Amino acid sequence: MEKSEGRSIRCLVTGAAGFVGSHLCERLLTLGHAVVGVDNFFSGRPENLEPFGTHPRFFFHERSITEPLLLRDLSAAHGPFDAVFHLAAIVSVPYSLDHPEETHQVNYVATVHLVNEAEKLGARSFVFAGSAAEYGTQERMPLREPDAGSWTLWLSPYGEAKYRASAAVASRRGALRGVSLRCFNIYGPRQDPSSPYSGVISRFVDMAVAGRPLTIFGDGLQTRDFVFVDDVVEAYCRAALLENDAESPPCGIYNVGSGRPTSILDLARLICRLTGRPESITFCPERPGDIRHSTASVEAAQRDLGWAPRVGLEVGLKRTIQWMQGEKPIRGAKPVPMSMESR
Ligand SMILES: NC(=O)c1ccc[n+]([C@@H]2O[C@H](COP(=O)([O-])OP(=O)(O)OC[C@H]3O[C@@H](n4cnc5c(N)ncnc54)[C@H](O)[C@@H]3O)[C@@H](O)[C@H]2O)c1
Repeated sequence: MEKSEGRSIRCLVTGAAGFVGSHLCERLLTLGHAVVGVDNFFSGRPENLEPFGTHPRFFFHERSITEPLLLRDLSAAHGPFDAVFHLAAIVSVPYSLDHPEETHQVNYVATVHLVNEAEKLGARSFVFAGSAAEYGTQERMPLREPDAGSWTLWLSPYGEAKYRASAAVASRRGALRGVSLRCFNIYGPRQDPSSPYSGVISRFVDMAVAGRPLTIFGDGLQTRDFVFVDDVVEAYCRAALLENDAESPPCGIYNVGSGRPTSILDLARLICRLTGRPESITFCPERPGDIRHSTASVEAAQRDLGWAPRVGLEVGLKRTIQWMQGEKPIRGAKPVPMSMESR
């Protein structure tokens, strides 16, 4: 059986300079694997690569996933990949609404090309960053994997492209196993609070640390499912069988969330308390297109990946606040020296 545990493998991580991708690279290096990272810095930041940029088993290429020969070039330079973790994407929902065709090309067309190439070049697993946005508007909670389908009313080109790409990846069940992780609201250190699609937690923590009031759109009773980045990284590793002793290799689509709804108002209050700020919350009109509730069922990931979220919201928030208060690298810092650059 294909099992990567205990031996070093060669991994490709697209979106390596992003919030989640950089944590994943770090974990893969800690597990003893060789990591080739790709990013074009569309929304990622060189600072995110700093903690491991000079690691002898890390190689970085500033390139786009839309380049047709990307995987062939990288395989020729480094040798064939055992596992491909595909996280690079246009991540901004508002940007996707303004640029539907570009979103389709980057998030769907490039993904299908990459998974085809990975299969031809002999990769064993391809793990894709799916999204809760694939569920569009839904009434019934918690959301289970079969709840998204061709009937879904997607709220953005982002959600639709992620759905189609997930389906394309998850259909690979031969020598290459395709897994899509439908992640809910991920949070943690390195999440950029300044981007237009910043997670609500990074924005709230940024506001609280700066002593500004926290702004809620709507009544604050809408709920989200927040999952800490370390838990998400573990799900990626388990999906590629790096930290998973499951008997049958997983393939298909899996929700990755905490399995718990948290209202935005409760979240704001908790962040005020944890940062030691007086409760200062302002309300703005609801944003059109915002969904009311979102909660994952994580039963399938528990069953097939042996994965469960471990970091509770309060612990995860404390780690995020700590990072935001002290360890946050200065924006616009110089790029780190890389072990290797192809161009
Ligand atoms: N953060 C969340 O809450 C969340 C939830 C669900 C799914 N996701 C998915 O997880 C993945 C990682 O998200 P993130 O939060 O780390 O966002 P991020 O913006 O920090 O990371 C995405 C990375 O992809 C890179 N990228 C974009 N276009 C590229 C291209 N053409 N070529 C090469 N690199 C390119 C960006 O520069 C960035 O570094 C994304 O696919 C996102 O859709 C994130």
